[in-house]
Amino acid sequence: MSKFTALSDELHDYIVGHGSRQDEVLRRIQEETAAMGEISVMQIAPDQGAFITMLCRLLGAREAIELGTFTGYSAICIARGLQPGGRLIACELSEEYAKIAARNFEAAGVADRIEVRIGPAAETLRDLPERELFDFGFIDADKTGYPDYYEQVLSRTRPGGLIMVDNVLAAGQVVSGGEDFDEFTRDSVGAIRRINELITADERVDTVMLGIADGVMLARKR
Ligand SMILES: C[S@@+](CC[C@H](N)C(=O)[O-])C[C@H]1O[C@@H](n2cnc3c(N)ncnc32)[C@H](O)[C@@H]1O
Repeated sequence: MSKFTALSDELHDYIVGHGSRQDEVLRRIQEETAAMGEISVMQIAPDQGAFITMLCRLLGAREAIELGTFTGYSAICIARGLQPGGRLIACELSEEYAKIAARNFEAAGVADRIEVRIGPAAETLRDLPERELFDFGFIDADKTGYPDYYEQVLSRTRPGGLIMVDNVLAAGQVVSGGEDFDEFTRDSVGAIRRINELITADERVDTVMLGIADGVMLARKR
């Protein structure tokens, strides 16, 4: 028998309101991003942000990489969890978003530990040395790139390091039909289904999928 507590909106609000604290800087970034309109759904959820900071602290992470930075919420959560002297490489395609993120990094007091790299994440990754650099990797850019990003990040992650892949539930679409999807959604959901299968079967990592926000897959390199 499955054992889980189904979440109503009320219960979800309770979870977010208890156990994860959001400071004024993150609250402002959430509000300003929400004012950008529909696109704001791209931002990670506050409870997910608190979870990321805690994971980085537990890992004792020093070196991290993020693919897909948008206005900077998740990057700030990673940077806050890093050890003193730690460094995050934040990869973002859009110059406009990167500028907003850079402003937010200053406001959060973490600009000195985040290096923003503007351009396609696949190229940024290929320009990095092929050694085990990272303690933590967060994959949250274009979904069709996920299988490639996973391989690239994994090969640059140290044994014991952790990769978090975001949106692995695709708003529930991983299990619901697919025939009515437009081409973009079909491709994105297909890529997410592929990465979920790939990671689950990957003997190089220990894995767990969690139903936080839109679902995250954690893969710890053996
Ligand atoms: C889901 S959002 C990231 C949200 C962010 N992690 C946060 O917490 O707010 C995805 C981001 O990936 C960026 N992106 C899309 N394609 C990309 C690519 N090929 N390389 C790098 N970034 C890309 C988008 O511009 C967008 O800002």
